[in-house]
Amino acid sequence: MKFNLGLSAVLALLGVLVDSAQADCPSFNDWSRQARGSPSLGPLKLPYMRPDPACRTFNSSAVEKVITDMKGLIKDPDIARLFENTFPNTLDTTVKYFSKDKNLAFIITGDITAQWLRDTANQFAHYHDLLGQDPELATLVKAVINNEARYVAQYPYCGSFQPPPESGLPTSHNDWADGVTVNPPIDRNIVFECKYEIDSLCGFLKLSRSYWQATKDTSFINDNWKAAVDQIFRVIYEQSQSTFDDNFNFISYYNWTGGDGALSPRVPNFGNNEPKAYTGLVGTHHRPSDDLSHFPFLVPANAMLSVELGHLADMLQASGKLSNITQQSRQLSNRIRDAIWKTTIADGVFAYETNGFGGRYVMDDANVPSLLSLPYLGFLDKHHPVYVATKNVIFSKKNPYYAAGKSFNGIGGPHVDPWHPWPMSHVSKIFGSDNDAEILNSLYLIANNTNGLGLIHESQSIYSDSDYTRNWFAWANSYFAEMILDLAARKPYLILKTNKPYKIGQK
Ligand SMILES: *[C@@H]1O[C@H](CO)[C@@H](O)[C@H](O)[C@H]1NC(C)=O
Ligand SMILES: *[C@@H]1O[C@H](CO)[C@@H](O)[C@H](O)[C@H]1NC(C)=O
Ligand SMILES: *[C@@H]1O[C@H](CO)[C@@H](O)[C@H](O)[C@H]1NC(C)=O
Ligand SMILES: *[C@@H]1O[C@H](CO)[C@@H](O)[C@H](O)[C@H]1NC(C)=O
Repeated sequence: MKFNLGLSAVLALLGVLVDSAQADCPSFNDWSRQARGSPSLGPLKLPYMRPDPACRTFNSSAVEKVITDMKGLIKDPDIARLFENTFPNTLDTTVKYFSKDKNLAFIITGDITAQWLRDTANQFAHYHDLLGQDPELATLVKAVINNEARYVAQYPYCGSFQPPPESGLPTSHNDWADGVTVNPPIDRNIVFECKYEIDSLCGFLKLSRSYWQATKDTSFINDNWKAAVDQIFRVIYEQSQSTFDDNFNFISYYNWTGGDGALSPRVPNFGNNEPKAYTGLVGTHHRPSDDLSHFPFLVPANAMLSVELGHLADMLQASGKLSNITQQSRQLSNRIRDAIWKTTIADGVFAYETNGFGGRYVMDDANVPSLLSLPYLGFLDKHHPVYVATKNVIFSKKNPYYAAGKSFNGIGGPHVDPWHPWPMSHVSKIFGSDNDAEILNSLYLIANNTNGLGLIHESQSIYSDSDYTRNWFAWANSYFAEMILDLAARKPYLILKTNKPYKIGQK
């Protein structure tokens, strides 16, 4: 090994050079396990958790202005501190590579050094309204889109990726992918993990159209992007098919095995998981939490797909680009939406997963897209009776992944375990609520449960206050900050000193 300086070792050396400005910076993963800076002046005494300016991975004056504004406006100094820590977290800590010239950027999730399509879209969601004001930030997002377009064009079934070779950054080894066979096969120097999750592709579409909505710049629609969209349509077509055709030929376009000594458990039916029958919905293999789906039709992911295909059609129509797929996109969006309303509701509530044979799994998982996040995703109004009824089931003992303890409760999932609900579920609940008491209760459940660390963690045990997972989870930080900005615009009196709505991105 010592004498064989392989490609990744050479790249690692180059990576150190590229990163030399940050050579003296502590790893944020280690640093964020302890409270830093002087505590906030509220009862929670939350620490200041932004890295030293020299260690930040991207600077934006537009982002700094929002932080200054919000610190002056928010009533509760603890909530102000949480906003100050979380809003810039993506830019402060996760931009591992950015080249304007090459139009490429590599964004890590936080503690995992890979770029997830889903996480990235969510990590930037709360900055969209600033893109029109901050051209550098817009250029960064465009570079993220272009990097992802290359990934998707090549590996549309995969959700998480290695740094682009141009970055000189080393690749990371994913122990959980060892011993797993995946078809179509992948190159592990490009792909970090190839679980197929349809919402990953939705994340890419959402990032693209949000960039367009904010800037009206269509220059991201290059050959990479067109190729990626072609691949997305292929996956949608392939994964809409039933498992058996009319003559009982077994249809498999993608399979992922696990088992046989791999850390990842065995997936039944030779890596194909449970069979499905045609409904108009699009099948998926793993959930947004990267756990294996129980049934293939993940309802909230289909809701997100329907919404994003609608936006795609609008964007292509308005920009006059790719007119050959505008209609197709609109039709698919409608087909999927209709199938959700026709095939997934029983007793007035949505199922989380279905299989087209009558199988339904009534539950919710903390990750977005979830049923709880349907209003956030733009699928329906938060007052819709089916949503209200579904939400009541989700926050009750009827949901296997709802759990409540003395100081924390919420929705969890098999990704951690049933007694570790996720703060993220309360962010989704706030986006889906108009009830002030309910909103404040969820807000303070989150704020009270950061383990005194002032950042949003992945999960929190209902049994022990000090038992949590992932101290550095950029998406959760972004989602929290996005929710605070939503409240500042929608219900200013709840969190701001005055009842004047604060909207970012407005001069
Ligand atoms: C951000 O600004 C600080 C100075 O405030 C600087 O030291 C740091 O290198 C900048 N980061 C980047 C990525 O430019
Ligand atoms: C796995 O997927 C490939 C296509 O990527 C297909 O050719 C093969 O038949 C599938 N295998 C099984 C066992 O389903
Ligand atoms: C749409 O047209 C573009 C060329 O402008 C082509 O690259 C693409 O494959 C077409 N897509 C479909 C789904 O026909
Ligand atoms: C948060 O903590 C405060 C102070 O300990 C407590 O008064 C409040 O009830 C808690 N809120 C929630 C929603 O748990």
